[in-house]
Amino acid sequence: MQAILLVGGQGTRLRPLTISTPKPMLPVAGYPCTSHQIARAADAGVTRIVLGTSYRAEVFEDYFSQHNEFDMDIHYAVEDEPLGTGGAIRNAAQFLTCGPDDPVIIFNGDILTGLDITGLVERWRESNADVALYLTRVDDPRAYGLVPTDETGRVLAFKEKPTTPEEIVTDQINAGCYVFKRSVIDRIPADRVVSVERETFPELLETDARVIGVVDDGYWLDLGTPLAFSKGSADLVRGIAPSPLLEGSIGDSLVKSGTSVHPSASITAGSYIGNGVSVGENAIIEGSVIYDNATIAAGAQVIRSIVGDSASIGTHARITETVVAEGASLGAHNELNPGARVFPNAVINDSAIRFSSDR
Ligand code: GDD
Ligand code: MG
Repeated sequence: MQAILLVGGQGTRLRPLTISTPKPMLPVAGYPCTSHQIARAADAGVTRIVLGTSYRAEVFEDYFSQHNEFDMDIHYAVEDEPLGTGGAIRNAAQFLTCGPDDPVIIFNGDILTGLDITGLVERWRESNADVALYLTRVDDPRAYGLVPTDETGRVLAFKEKPTTPEEIVTDQINAGCYVFKRSVIDRIPADRVVSVERETFPELLETDARVIGVVDDGYWLDLGTPLAFSKGSADLVRGIAPSPLLEGSIGDSLVKSGTSVHPSASITAGSYIGNGVSVGENAIIEGSVIYDNATIAAGAQVIRSIVGDSASIGTHARITETVVAEGASLGAHNELNPGARVFPNAVINDSAIRFSSDR
């Protein structure tokens, strides 16, 4: 079985973490999201995968030339300018070797899922479909592609990111994994920007192609925002989100080697602590991602936050739902509230930012 992984987006909502690292290569629970996805694809019988890359393309090849534990045949399709999701699929297809009627599995590069991949391919085959879409249900579908289906599972419409209340006709959304008949990919226009969501799917529906939706209510998360990212990492650490790479290391937290953690520190709710991190006395780390060589000083509190490589959080500083990028330093007694972002190597002096507790 062959697959395409779409990993060329800019990851704008995760800036400043994505200035130096493309979103799918940011480690979640110690491995790039792309590694978790390749591992799951390998378990489902995929033997050849093409990474559709654009933004910071070289990072993928550099990493996987050293870390291919999956025995996967990995190829890199590089877009000089981003071609959009549909253009990326078309461009990646040059590295597929399967026949026109064979299935090709396509994954968005930023989703964590417990999807039964083999089951989706089977449904595609049984229904003699051109395309099968993995769907999930969410409370607020506005940030996604809406996909209403009839009682047989046939897709009735595809509305990407609805803007008016009338457009919200279902809670079923595109969960970012498809099975395409290879010949359908070959019909996507080459060498121009194409959105699979805004152009390819609506066109397929207009021309009465057989497009089916398969709702799977298992684990699903798009890692596109900082809060989702720290949640996804914590869910992997606790085994709520499945990954073959973490079998045997599931627990309430994951602390890598070479760390110095004071025995009085509390590290909970799926926190991940990278190599060489130092955590001081009575520090509290909850549901957070702390990358390599960062320092969390005594009494600091880090709640549902991401702390980049070699960044430091000062004594009794408190951050909640915040991103502190690599090399940044937050002085003692600062308090950062949800949505705050500290840029790479920024230095914030002691007590420079403080909100009163009733604000
Ligand atoms: N190679 C390449 N080139 N990849 C791209 C490009 C491009 O020009 N643009 C986006 N991608 C990749 C991103 O890296 C990501 O892995 C995937 O395509 C989807 O892009 P996002 O930017 O994450 O899109 P989204 O989250 O707003 O929406 C998409 O995913 C939702 C589910 O998570 C859509 O497919 C929605 O319909 C869907 O509901
Ligand atoms: Mg996304």
